[in-house]
Amino acid sequence: MTGVTARVPAKLNLQLGVGPPRADGYHDLVTVFHAVSLCDEVTVAPHGRDSVAVTGEGADRVPGGQGNLALRALAALRAAVRDGAGNGAAAAGHVRVTIAKRIPVAAGLAGGSADAAGALVACNELWGAGVPVRQLCEIAATVGSDVAFALLGGTAVGRGRGERLTPVLAPATSYHWVLALAEGQLPTPEVYAALDRLRAAGAAGSAPVGMAAEPTLDGALMSALRSGDAALVGRALSNDLQPAALSLYPSLRKTLAAGLELGALGGLVAGSGPTCAFLAASAGRAVELAVSLSGAGVCRSVARVTGPVPGAAVI
Ligand code: C5P
Repeated sequence: MTGVTARVPAKLNLQLGVGPPRADGYHDLVTVFHAVSLCDEVTVAPHGRDSVAVTGEGADRVPGGQGNLALRALAALRAAVRDGAGNGAAAAGHVRVTIAKRIPVAAGLAGGSADAAGALVACNELWGAGVPVRQLCEIAATVGSDVAFALLGGTAVGRGRGERLTPVLAPATSYHWVLALAEGQLPTPEVYAALDRLRAAGAAGSAPVGMAAEPTLDGALMSALRSGDAALVGRALSNDLQPAALSLYPSLRKTLAAGLELGALGGLVAGSGPTCAFLAASAGRAVELAVSLSGAGVCRSVARVTGPVPGAAVI
């Protein structure tokens, strides 16, 4: 076998509820993940040593070496295989990972996690390791908080750091999204830290931002998803990280306001930002919204995507 390619989606968080910081520096979450049709492709092929090459959107900003999540993921899978995971017969040799990026880097869309999930399924296939999905998800969770969801795809509730997943049972509605991609990046740890500071300032006397208590799943969003009614889903979108992302990237307020004025059913900062995501009533409305948003000059570029889509899969 020469090489194996996996396609793996970006994610949105339809709800991102963030609790107080934990002792390990993470935050307990209640989130509703939603995989969308903006995908990276991750190819693995036998090679003398592990290495990674990246092409496409923001390739120069993807870390090489062991800072690369795809390399960390395949090292974690190799270690598990050598410890007896899967069918035990696999020779987990060195690989070259080639990532064709379409998911923007550090944009709040979990592109790095997607690449890690792609490396896991592609290496599992290349090595003939036969590690079952459940165990791949456990390995994924050691690599990053969003990696297990990138394996699963669809729409799912995430708890803990985001790695404890329960699929959402909902009608087969396809939602039409417009992503407003921003200049620059927002590093996730900085956005969480900004939220902690805003909340601390609130406790010290100024207006509190969001709830620092343990977050709960939003019943209105869950019933909206069960109804398959995009207007209800649009109204129920929420993100506790949004005030923090706006404090670090104030011009996103304009982007959000523009999308809502231009007829989106709802809009929010995607994950830790700086991408903004808008829900449209139909495919046609999404085209109109995308055209108007790019004309309004409130973002670097726009992308139309649909969701939910399946998680990482070999193609
Ligand atoms: O798990 P991952 O490496 O993707 O997380 C990146 C950073 O985001 C963490 O180092 C942490 O600062 C922040 N984070 C968090 N709570 C979570 C997930 C991520 O504080 N549940």
